[in-house]
Amino acid sequence: MPAETVTVELGRRSYPVRIGAGVRREALAAAKARVDAGRRCAAITSPGVAGALPDFVAELGRLMPVLVTARDGETAKSAEEAARCWDFLAGNGVARDGAVLAFGGGVVGDLAGFAAASYQRGVEFIQVPTTLLAMVDSSVGGKTGINLASGKNLVGAFHQPAAVFADTELLRTLPGREFAAGMAEVIKHGLIADADLFGLLEQNAPLAWNHALLPAVVRRCVEIKAGVVAGDERETSAHGGRALLNLGHTFGHAVEAVAGYGTYLHGEAVAIGLAMAASLSSELGRCTPAQTERVRAVLTAHGLPDRLRGPLPVDRLLEAMRRDKKVRGGRMRFVLLEGVGAASTDDGVTEEAAVRALLAGGAAR
Ligand SMILES: NC(=O)c1ccc[n+]([C@@H]2O[C@H](COP(=O)([O-])OP(=O)(O)OC[C@H]3O[C@@H](n4cnc5c(N)ncnc54)[C@H](O)[C@@H]3O)[C@@H](O)[C@H]2O)c1
Repeated sequence: MPAETVTVELGRRSYPVRIGAGVRREALAAAKARVDAGRRCAAITSPGVAGALPDFVAELGRLMPVLVTARDGETAKSAEEAARCWDFLAGNGVARDGAVLAFGGGVVGDLAGFAAASYQRGVEFIQVPTTLLAMVDSSVGGKTGINLASGKNLVGAFHQPAAVFADTELLRTLPGREFAAGMAEVIKHGLIADADLFGLLEQNAPLAWNHALLPAVVRRCVEIKAGVVAGDERETSAHGGRALLNLGHTFGHAVEAVAGYGTYLHGEAVAIGLAMAASLSSELGRCTPAQTERVRAVLTAHGLPDRLRGPLPVDRLLEAMRRDKKVRGGRMRFVLLEGVGAASTDDGVTEEAAVRALLAGGAAR
C-alpha cells in the first residue's frame, strides 16, 4: 500500500501525518532540508530504540546531534531527563529556528515534545514514532509532558508537531508485549468512534505488525484522533470532545500508579481500564452486558489483560482516580461507552458505581 497522509486540521498549525512502510526516509529528507537551510536541529531517542534500530539512528547522527536518554520507559519522562534535553539543545547551539526530532515511542515523544515546547519558549518538533501506541495515539495531537512523583503527566504543554512520519516497518523490532499494548489504544479508537474498525479487530485478531491491514488500521486511528483533536484541541469541551480519548484512562492511570510504574505497560493498564469502563457503562445501562463481553473478548484476543493480574486495594485505586487530571470541579469525569462505536463523558458517576467497576476488574477491598 502506498504511503498515505492524514492532515490534522488546526488552521495555520495544521500538519501532515504520513503513514506507511518506508516513510522514515521522508523524515530524514525533512530533517536534511532544515539542516541544509542552516537550522541547528537535534534528535532525541532512548537506549532501547537506539539498540533496536541502529541504522536509522546512525543516519540521523550524520545529520544532527542525537541525545540518547539515560533511561528507557516511563521513568524517562522525568524533570531530570527534561533538563538533560534542554542542556543538550543549548550545548549543541539549537536556536529559536531549530527543530527537535523525536525518534521513539510515547515516552520519547512526550519527553522530547515537552523539551521542544519549553526550550526557548518553543522550537519546531517532528515525530518519528516507533511503537504502535505512538503511531496511533501519542505522536498526534500535541500533548507533551513528564511525570512527577505524585502523578503521571502532571507537568506538560500543548505543542503540536510540524509533521509526523509513522513508518510501520519500524514495528518489526517492537517486542510482542509492546505491540499488544498499542492495540489497546487501537481498540479504544474503535470503541469511541468506529464500530466497523472494532468489528475488523474482532475478525482479524490478533493483528501483527506485518498484517496487510495494519497500515489502514493505523490510518483510521490517526483519522479518528485528528478529527477529535481538530474539534477540541485543548480538551475544553464541556461534554465529549477530546476527553473521549480518555476512555479507560481514569481507571488505567490509577492501575499504573497503584501497581507501581512498570508493573503494567501503559497500554496494558488502559486495556484493564477499558474493561472496567465497559462494565461501568453496562451497569449504568449505557451499553449491554453482551457489548461488555465483546470488549473483554477483543482485548484478550489481542494478548491484553481484561482484568488485574493480581488484586490491588480498591481504596488506593479510588484515591489515585481522585488525583487524576480528569477530575473537574471536584468530580471525577468518566468516559462511558454508548454501545460499540460511540462514547460520552459523564461527571455524575457515583464513587459507589466506580468501586463496583474496580471490583469487577479484580480490585480487592
Ligand atoms: N501525548 C499523548 O497524547 C499520549 C497518548 C498516549 C500515551 N502517551 C504516553 O505514551 C507513553 C507510552 O508510550 P509507548 O507505549 O510507546 O512506550 P515507550 O515509549 O516506553 O516504548 C516502549 C518500549 O519499546 C521500546 N521500543 C520502542 N520502539 C521500538 C522498536 N521499534 N523496536 C524495539 N523496541 C522499541 C522502547 O525502548 C521501550 O522500552 C506513556 O508515557 C503515555 O503516558 C501519550
